[in-house]
Amino acid sequence: MADASSPPTDQLAAATLDEVPKALFSDRAPIRSIISRPDGGSALAGRKARVGGWVKTGRKADKDAFAFLELNDGSCAGNLQVIVEASLGDLGQIVPTGTCVVVDGRLMLPPAGTKQKIELRAEKVLHVGPVDPAKYPLPKMRLTLEFLRDFVHLRSRTNTISAVARIRNALAYATHTFFNKEGFLYVHTPIITTSDCEGAGEMFQVTTLLSEAERLEKELLENPPPTEADVEAARVVVTEKGEVVSQLKAAKASKQEIGGAVDQLKKAKESLAKVEERSKLKPGIPKKDDGNVDYGRDFFARQAFLTVSGQLQVESYACALSSVYTFGPTFRAENSHTSRHLAEFWMVEPEIAFAELKDDMNCAEAYVKFMCQWLLDNCLEDMEFMADKFDKGCINRLKLVASTPFIRVTYTEAVEILEEAVKNGKKFENEVKWGIDLASEHERYLTEVKFQKPVIVYNYPKEIKAFYMRLNDDLKTVAAMDVLVPKVGELIGGSQREERYDVIQTRIKEMGLPLEPYEWYLDLRRYGTVKHSGFGLGFERMILFATGLENIRDVIPFPRYPGRADL
Ligand code: 4AD
Ligand code: MG
Repeated sequence: MADASSPPTDQLAAATLDEVPKALFSDRAPIRSIISRPDGGSALAGRKARVGGWVKTGRKADKDAFAFLELNDGSCAGNLQVIVEASLGDLGQIVPTGTCVVVDGRLMLPPAGTKQKIELRAEKVLHVGPVDPAKYPLPKMRLTLEFLRDFVHLRSRTNTISAVARIRNALAYATHTFFNKEGFLYVHTPIITTSDCEGAGEMFQVTTLLSEAERLEKELLENPPPTEADVEAARVVVTEKGEVVSQLKAAKASKQEIGGAVDQLKKAKESLAKVEERSKLKPGIPKKDDGNVDYGRDFFARQAFLTVSGQLQVESYACALSSVYTFGPTFRAENSHTSRHLAEFWMVEPEIAFAELKDDMNCAEAYVKFMCQWLLDNCLEDMEFMADKFDKGCINRLKLVASTPFIRVTYTEAVEILEEAVKNGKKFENEVKWGIDLASEHERYLTEVKFQKPVIVYNYPKEIKAFYMRLNDDLKTVAAMDVLVPKVGELIGGSQREERYDVIQTRIKEMGLPLEPYEWYLDLRRYGTVKHSGFGLGFERMILFATGLENIRDVIPFPRYPGRADL
């Protein structure tokens, strides 16, 4: 007897004999399985296929006797050409761009001289999800990426955004493949946190105090709190009921009688407690006696934030499981309106015990190279699209990065190179001297002009880096490293971590940070400390680097930046 878990035998038979197999968990064959074969699908001529997708372009032909549809289902960049005869349905309804169509048909070789290697002649139209072309926000014409940002819920239907989605997916898969291959454990670090990893105070606060205050304000308007007189009245009732109990006891009344009076007293006390409680309710955010917000009454009974980095927490797993990584969303409330910053972005953060800065740099370089090679091996069609439409050099850049060693220079050497450039007439907006935080223009000069390949700058002045970075023996620099790449500038920031208890405690204080929230972090140094290192790769910056797109808002599905958080 057939059960629900076994595929229907007639479907299997059809698939093996005559039909292009459907995707395992949906009711159609992916267009990729037809046109992305080495032969472009030509060997499938004569087979039946059910396909579904959204019309890229459609037109009626031969005096409206049939329609040509370019159908795309996102499984690959290419479209399948579908021919629908007028007898199968209302052609006017299926040709508008954006219409969803599912058809059964037979694959045929197209007339000689056409671009595509295979096309589908529809035999039955199974579904039409129509579009009113007068209202559809994404007409056929070429739209700017900026325009598309106003339609983030529909822009995934465009060639560019769907190619980016496939590249992004490939890079995520490459990330897990790389770290898994190298024996790293994937650890899920918290999104809500009570420690500021970068100590830069750029955190979004997580609180229910505001919505609670609003709710209470509304409630108190509808249902005013009891007055002092109401409370007094409730107190009087309690006193009276108490007296009744005493009198009954004195009069040696029956157990039953006394019990009844005690019950009434209890009820009066409960209602007094309620009235008193409500009379204390005040609109607004709860404050302590010293005037500060009373976070003890917030959801987590303390101040909490969205994480800026999973590093601190993942360190606790590195100091137990040795090689770990986290990959998740991170949040920064910095008011940056640049093409390289988002308020919500994804970061890949490996953390390695028994590793120093050199191991960290080696890991970062191997990981970036692996991702570049992965795209060349697995995502070439989408990369070719990017090369054709946005950045001619993007494929060569991947090849170059995958195959050439990264340059490594100390911060001091980097500053010398920049000073030399200034001497030779190069103008920077920001002054160059030892001690400055390298600006994006400096980083891009190093990687795009001077070396024309990825550059790792290491050993930065301690003043411009976070408290957790290991102090070098010169006592002036820390074992930090940034990976700079052409097109993007800073792609990775990392460091060897300060594993010496006394030193890190001093550094936290020096930076003017409170010790209390970091006590747990200090425990990692108090108990079984070990040298360890790690880094964070900005995932969207990696996609910018790979695709050559200009704006980071176009490489994350739903960008968040100052003033915008659609959907
Ligand atoms: O250099 P960052 O701030 O380093 C850290 O957060 C460390 N805790 C990482 C670690 O050692 N585990 O950030 C790391 C990377 C940057 O190099 C950059 O690529 C990216 O994250 N990044 C951003 N990407 C998009 N929008 C922003 N606002 C970003 N801020 C940093
Ligand atoms: Mg950084």
